[in-house]
Amino acid sequence: MCGIVGYIGKKEAYPILIKGLKRLEYRGYDSAGVALSDQNGIHLCKTRGKVDDLSAKCEHLEKSPRIGLGHTRWATHGEPSDVNSHPHYSNSGDLVIIHNGIIENYDPLRKELMNRGYSFTSETDTEVLVNLIEDVMVNEEVKLGKAVQVALNQTIGAYAIAVMDKKKPNEIVVARLGSPLAIGVGDDEYFIASDATPFIEYTKDAIYLNDGEMAVLRTHKPLKIRNIKDDSLIDPYVQKLQMNLDQIEKGGYDHFMLKEIFEQPSAIADTYRGRMLADRGIINMSGIEDNLDKFRNAKRIIIAACGTSWHAGLVAEYIFEDIARTPVEVEYASEFRYRNPIIGEGDVLIAISQSGETADTMAAIEIAKQNGAFVFGVCNVVGSSISRASHAGAYTHAGPEIGVASTKAFTTQITILSLIALRIGKEKGNLSKTEYFSYLRELELIPDKIKKSLVSNDHIYLVADAYKNAKNCLYLGRGFNFPVALEGALKLKEISYIHAEGYPAAEMKHGPIALIDEEMPVVVIATKLGHYEKVVSNIQEIKSRKGKIIAIVTEGDEQVKEMADHTIEVPETHEAFTPLLTTIPLQLLSYHIAVMLGRNVDQPRNLAKSVTVE
Ligand code: AGP
Ligand code: GLU
Repeated sequence: MCGIVGYIGKKEAYPILIKGLKRLEYRGYDSAGVALSDQNGIHLCKTRGKVDDLSAKCEHLEKSPRIGLGHTRWATHGEPSDVNSHPHYSNSGDLVIIHNGIIENYDPLRKELMNRGYSFTSETDTEVLVNLIEDVMVNEEVKLGKAVQVALNQTIGAYAIAVMDKKKPNEIVVARLGSPLAIGVGDDEYFIASDATPFIEYTKDAIYLNDGEMAVLRTHKPLKIRNIKDDSLIDPYVQKLQMNLDQIEKGGYDHFMLKEIFEQPSAIADTYRGRMLADRGIINMSGIEDNLDKFRNAKRIIIAACGTSWHAGLVAEYIFEDIARTPVEVEYASEFRYRNPIIGEGDVLIAISQSGETADTMAAIEIAKQNGAFVFGVCNVVGSSISRASHAGAYTHAGPEIGVASTKAFTTQITILSLIALRIGKEKGNLSKTEYFSYLRELELIPDKIKKSLVSNDHIYLVADAYKNAKNCLYLGRGFNFPVALEGALKLKEISYIHAEGYPAAEMKHGPIALIDEEMPVVVIATKLGHYEKVVSNIQEIKSRKGKIIAIVTEGDEQVKEMADHTIEVPETHEAFTPLLTTIPLQLLSYHIAVMLGRNVDQPRNLAKSVTVE
């Protein structure tokens, strides 16, 4: 999600921290802060805003300390603000923490700590963790390293953390689970960071902590790495970095878009983390629970969005009507805002927006509110305009989406909307207990099934090579996958500049079939469930007119493989969740074609990441 930096050694820490945070800016963030430690204590400076704002605010800070931490925050719990920024002190002021990730069980931990007399100044899950560490230190009379270990074994969630104790100003304790953390090994100095960009100019010797590992960094002492669970010592594996800055920023991928396509398994897991316990049949999202009656009694749900978010809304229409049996209408926000829509009390408007800043979607919200509707926002940016304008909402925890073409935002939006539909469906009694558990267990398997779909990347590269010179392309899908056909066409259009259209497969015979010839590639989503046989006959129609067929099929499907020019397999899943899998090959197909055509994949021409104007 965001960025952490740390230094312990013989140089002044402050310039290393600030420069390191600047290096991590590409990861996206909303706040920044530093903490410097010396014999006089730990001095902290933090702010909502940019690293440059932080520098300006730190004018007063004593810059001589040789140990310190820096953080750029991508908020998940608590809006972007000075007080919610990191680093965070413990109650005593002795400890300071920076954290990247989500502590799922922060709420019960916070309540327990409050019962023990702790107080909190921020709304973050992170401040709970630093006080839990302090509580362990005090009650079990152990040092920082042990206290961190014991505390982490009481938490559920994802973290990359660094902690300092003012009573031990020559030590930093780090740990990771689910969020990245790299250690730069210098000459009697250590660096820590979310990736190697902040320290590669100082040292190319790096140790990448693995999940479930922690380390205590001390000057003049060898590094010790331990397993958080069983305290066993682990031999550090120091690797010589070969990547340059640009490659490191992209996690070794050639473009942010490709990195974000491959981040989708973890992004989806982060999105349902702390909100779904499949084996216990629990879906718990405060924005829904606090407004369950509005959703249960809604006359209809209107979904307003733009672009890819609108496509996620279309998928949600199929899911909501199938599972929650609530009527859903999906509106282009830009059309909704100007057509004097009929909306009022009893209606629920769901606004979907990755950036949370899209002007048309914002306008749709205002109209809905003026007419008495209940507005629920699904955004990826905490504290964004749309999230603040909504009556309630739920954030996709996709992390910053840098590539202009939306990928992980799309699949995490569908994840959130699926959770809402399942919760409402259960509430309204539309789902048997067996069906409900089956959906939740299948949703929990989706990250691994996406990983399996990503294995086809090399095969998709070859398919892309065969069609990179196409002038037009048709995308066809039925049911839950009709919106995926639209999304696949948008991806190809916006990054390769090849014209493409998405259609319901059955619509072919109502006109578009006149376009079919050997020059027209047709991408057909033909997964096993739903209207499989009907899609097969659509493929027959195309084949008999010499169209070139790229079929997205359920793994093991031999029938379509016989008919299509190219097939790309995805694992079987619940029909309602097929969009989460079938969109993956379409993202990769567009990506490879665009790269082969030499397009600026991360910043396509004429496009902005967030359309804040009409
Ligand atoms: C999708 O790849 C585009 N980036 C664009 O269509 C985008 O989805 C649309 O502008 C909506 O943006 P939002 O989700 O931030 O509101
Ligand atoms: N969950 C923490 C917060 O909201 C850390 C978020 C991050 O990774 O920046 O402050």
